[in-house]
Amino acid sequence: MDRPALTSRLHGFGTTIFAEMSALAARTGAINLGQGFPDTDGPEEIREAVVAALRAGVNQYPPGPGIPELRRAIAGHQRRFHGIELDPDGEVLVTTGATEAIAAALLALCEPGDEVVTFEPYYDSYAACIALAGATRRVVTLRPPGLTIDPEQLAAAFSDRTRLVLLNSPHNPTGKVFDRAELELIAAHCRERDVLAVTDEVYEHLVFDGRTHVPLSTLPGMAERTLSISSAGKTFSFTGWKIGWATGPRELVAATQTVKQYLTYVGGAPFQPAIAQALGLPDGYFADFRAGMEAKRDRLCAGLRAAGLTVFEPAGTYFVTADIRPLGFDDGHAFCLQLPERAGVVAVPTQVFYDDKDAGRPLVRFAFCKRDEVIDEAASRLANLTA
Ligand SMILES: Cc1ncc(COP(=O)(O)O)c(C=O)c1O
Repeated sequence: MDRPALTSRLHGFGTTIFAEMSALAARTGAINLGQGFPDTDGPEEIREAVVAALRAGVNQYPPGPGIPELRRAIAGHQRRFHGIELDPDGEVLVTTGATEAIAAALLALCEPGDEVVTFEPYYDSYAACIALAGATRRVVTLRPPGLTIDPEQLAAAFSDRTRLVLLNSPHNPTGKVFDRAELELIAAHCRERDVLAVTDEVYEHLVFDGRTHVPLSTLPGMAERTLSISSAGKTFSFTGWKIGWATGPRELVAATQTVKQYLTYVGGAPFQPAIAQALGLPDGYFADFRAGMEAKRDRLCAGLRAAGLTVFEPAGTYFVTADIRPLGFDDGHAFCLQLPERAGVVAVPTQVFYDDKDAGRPLVRFAFCKRDEVIDEAASRLANLTA
């Protein structure tokens, strides 16, 4: 066959960098600070709730929008933490992780030729899903150390073809948490141009140093034009369960559900009641989870600094970005390919998340959602590293 197997829409999208680097970690036995998954499971009572559901026969297709109990729990969570009121019947959709919600939303809301404004470095599924939808991405660059939005670049990213803004806050890979003034700037463009917003808030409970996560949908004029996406994976340390959700105006949720039903139809039957229970855990669970991860952030940042890297301390998420140039390297991809052999550690080169490769070339992302002894061992291995 002359014609390549893969659709031209995904030309250039090979294996994700996470799969590549995790395979490298497995092959070399290196410590994997590449992929963002915790090395300890979430609450025991929630694991047991899945076992109970399996044994109780919750093993067949759940309802299309998700079980009512989980949709009510998601609405309750949005009210408790963000003051957002939702009707669980029509304004809440359960998905197979945030990943499916993002894909379904972009496929549902975009026409070929539409433009999507997003921020680089971007989570890799955004570029692929925008391409699958036949849309074009228009990217605004967040540059360290401040990672602030350049208002002129933001304004220039909008055009008559802009359909939506795809915003991730707290932001992977930088750990940036967009503040209210930046969100207001984005919202002003959305209102002025009658543009939709899709937000990825999977790290909503990982915001440090007394900051707060502000959902874009809570800004004036934004509730009616924003589809908010989140998931249980990060918040409850069960990333393999893939229970996510999309919430917002009925019309946006219904459009997303129309696509979602042809992607997976439904998923995760025995996990759904367990996540409903998890969303109802007391405030202390969420506070302890955040405090624990904040301490891990401090631990890894100190280790990376001691190893000689320039560290951009994250305000949220699981991740810290560092500049490798003080160690005598300048290309993050080459550095990360050598790192398992040289130091027994795996990290992720940030340049793969940029259109402007130069902007990301010397930057590398490390995950700190790991046991303290693992973080310490990785830091001490990195301390022996020189070009
Ligand atoms: C920004 C961002 N969005 C979405 C996801 C995926 O979420 P889920 O596992 O719920 O599909 C991740 C996982 O790393 C992420 O970092």
